[in-house]
Amino acid sequence: MNPIAQRSIAMALGMALSGCGGGSDGKADGKAKAAASSKTEAKAKAEGKTTAAEPSADDGAGEDPAPAAAWSWQLPAGIHTPPRVPEDNPMSAEKVELGHRLFMDKRLSVDGSRSCYSCHQNELGNADGRAKALGPGGKELPRNAPTIWNVGLLPLLYWDGRSADLEAQAVGALKGGNMGLGDGVEAKAGEIGALPEYREAFAKAFGLAAGAPITGKHVAMALSAYERTLLCGDTAHDRDAQDEAAKRGWALFSGAAGCITCHAQDNFTDGLFHRTGIGASEPPAEGADRGRGTISKKPEEDFMFRTPTLRNVARTAPYFHDGSVATLEEAVRIMAGGGLRDRGPVDTNLVDRKLTEEEISDLVAFLRSLDCPGSLAVIGDQSVAGIGTAAGGSGAPDDAEAPAGDAKAGDAKADDAKAGDAKADATTKKGATESP
Ligand code: HEC
Ligand code: HEC
Repeated sequence: MNPIAQRSIAMALGMALSGCGGGSDGKADGKAKAAASSKTEAKAKAEGKTTAAEPSADDGAGEDPAPAAAWSWQLPAGIHTPPRVPEDNPMSAEKVELGHRLFMDKRLSVDGSRSCYSCHQNELGNADGRAKALGPGGKELPRNAPTIWNVGLLPLLYWDGRSADLEAQAVGALKGGNMGLGDGVEAKAGEIGALPEYREAFAKAFGLAAGAPITGKHVAMALSAYERTLLCGDTAHDRDAQDEAAKRGWALFSGAAGCITCHAQDNFTDGLFHRTGIGASEPPAEGADRGRGTISKKPEEDFMFRTPTLRNVARTAPYFHDGSVATLEEAVRIMAGGGLRDRGPVDTNLVDRKLTEEEISDLVAFLRSLDCPGSLAVIGDQSVAGIGTAAGGSGAPDDAEAPAGDAKAGDAKADDAKAGDAKADATTKKGATESP
C-alpha cells in the first residue's frame, strides 16, 4: 500500500470538508439556520456541561425568533460536517431534551435495571469498561460496547454495520439483549409515554394530539435526536495542543504507519469493514462471531468488522469488538504489526510496520490527544451491579486501561475456546436484536 498517496487523499478530503466548514451548519437540515439560540438552549437544557466546549458561541443573542423545528449545528473544532438527519425526524430542542431523559431512564429496560447510559458511561469513555457488555439478568452480550460519541457521524451502526441509522439502532437496542424488551417495545413505549412526566414532552416533541399513542418509533426518534448532539471534537489534537510525543505519533499515524487509511476523516473511521484477524479463525470456528459476513451473507466478508472511531479511545479499554485486548498499547502493537496474521487473511492495508517500542508509545500518545472534552449530563442514579463505576467516579478516566475489576476481561482472550458461548449469545442476540 502507499501511505503517501493515502495520506494526500485523506488530506484532500479533509480540506474539501473544511472548505465548506464555515457554511456547514444546517447542512443536514435546510431550514435550520434561523434560530441559533434555540440550539444553544437545547444544548444547555439537554446537556448542561455536556458536549465539547463551545468556544465559538457566536449566538449569545436572546430570544428565539422561530419556534419549533429550527435547528442549527454548532460543530466543535475538528468536526466539519454535521450528522445526517433523516427527513422524518428533524431536530428540535424538545425532542433532544426528551431523548436525553429517555437515554438516562432505567425504566426503559425490561426489568428497570439499566438505562442506555449504563453501558455508555462518562467515566468509561462512554462505553462500559467491560470486555463484553452485560445485559439485563446478568446476561453477557456477544460484543464490546463502543463509545457513544459521534455516533451521529457513522454511516452504519454496530460493529457489523447492521443498522442503517440511529433510529433502527435504537429499536435494536430496546428489543435486543441490551435493554431486553423483545416483543415488548410497543407496550413499554405506551407505558413510558403515559407517565405524567413524559406525556406532555412526547406530545410537544412530535406535535401529537392529546391521547395519541406513543410508539417505539417515537422513543427511538427522540433517542436518536439526542445522540446526534453528542459530538466529540475540540480535543488536544483538534486544537493543535498536542505534546511532542503526540505530534510524532500523529506524523506516524498519518504517514508511515498507515493508520489513516482506515481510521480516516473527522471521526477516524472510513465507516467500512476490514478483516484484522481479531476473533478470526480459518476455517471459521463453529459459532464464531463472523461480523459483517453474517449480515452480508458473503463468506469473503467473514470476520470483517467496521473500523471504530478512535476518538476517546484511550478511555474505552478493553479493546476490539470482542474486548479481547486489555490495553491501548497492545491494541496499537497489534494494528501496527499488521493485525493477527496467523488467523487467516487480513486486509491488504494492514502490514507489519516494524515500529520500535518508542514509536508505539508515540502512537499511543497521539491517541490520548483524542480524549473527548465533554461528558453527558447524567440524570438520576445510574449505578448498575456488574457495570463500571457509574456515579462512583474513579476520577481518573485515563486509567481505564485497568478495566475496573472486570473478571471477564481475561476470559475474553480465549476467543476460540469461547466460541460455544459466543454462539449461544449470538443466537439470542441476533434473533432478538434487530429486525431492520
Ligand atoms: C447492556 C449494555 C448496553 C445497553 C444497556 C445499551 N447499549 Fe448501546 N451498545 C452496546 C453494545 C455491546 C454495542 C455494540 C453491539 C454490536 O456491535 O453488535 C452497542 C452499540 C450501540 C450503538 C452503535 C455504536 C457504533 O459504534 O456503531 C449505539 C448508537 C448505541 N449502542 C446506543 C444505545 C442506546 C440508544 C441504548 C438504549 C436504548 C443503548 N445503546 C443501550 C451495549 C449497550
Ligand atoms: C485495514 C484498515 C485498518 C488499518 C490500516 C488500521 N486499523 Fe485500527 N482498526 C481497524 C478495524 C477494522 C478495527 C476493529 C477490529 C475489531 O475489533 O475486530 C480496528 C481497531 C483499532 C483499535 C481498537 C479500537 C477500539 O475501540 O477497540 C485501535 C486502538 C486501532 N485500531 C488503532 C490503529 C492504529 C494505531 C493503526 C496504525 C498502526 C491502525 N489501527 C490501522 C482497521 C484498521
